Amino acid sequence: MKLNELNDVFMLKIIMIYSTTDGQTKRIIDFLEKICGKKHEVRVVSVQEAHKQNLIEFDKIVIGARVRYGKHHKDIYKFIEKNKSKIIAKNNYFFSVNLVARKKAKNNPKTNPYTIKFLRKTDWNPTKINVFAGRVDYPKYNFINKLIIRTIMSITSGPTDTSRCFEFTDWVEVEKFGNIISRDILY
Ligand SMILES: Cc1cc2nc3c(=O)[nH]c(=O)nc-3n(C[C@H](O)[C@H](O)[C@H](O)COP(=O)(O)O)c2cc1C
Repeated sequence: MKLNELNDVFMLKIIMIYSTTDGQTKRIIDFLEKICGKKHEVRVVSVQEAHKQNLIEFDKIVIGARVRYGKHHKDIYKFIEKNKSKIIAKNNYFFSVNLVARKKAKNNPKTNPYTIKFLRKTDWNPTKINVFAGRVDYPKYNFINKLIIRTIMSITSGPTDTSRCFEFTDWVEVEKFGNIISRDILY
């Protein structure tokens, strides 16, 4: 049997930790769970609940975080800082969700400003890192956020109809990432 066929035989334990405000990062995590859950046991928790988990129990650790006002949530940084040695002892994955990633020139981790900043700030080199474009959910935003996002969208040639929601997530790419997580051999 080839080493990379081991994953098809053994059920592994995967933990998926997310930070979301408007729900898109959670939707992406739920889709990754569906893909990986076909072969493995997957547990999904918010970053705020993640401290209750014993990371040593898991074979693979996935962290997904949204960007707001130029930043990933501080709880994501705190969690990584506190648990880095446990995270890097397993197969580990990170993805960022932001709107800059809807632009072709900024939709991979090497070109997206938030993943570049994230890697520098955490000094963590995940087994695999990814970035997905998120969603503009105007009806969900309060007055100020609606105004700010609409202004940014207008400047960056994005959608400005505040009565609607616009999704930019490339689900085919999310599916590919899910398959990578599911099939990656253990280190
Ligand atoms: C108040 C607010 C601020 C945001 N700031 C940024 C930003 O600085 N850069 C960016 O690329 N996207 C930004 N976004 C877009 C979000 O990253 C995008 O909507 C993403 O889907 C949010 O993920 P979530 O639904 O999991 O919270 C912002 C969105 C909101 C509502």
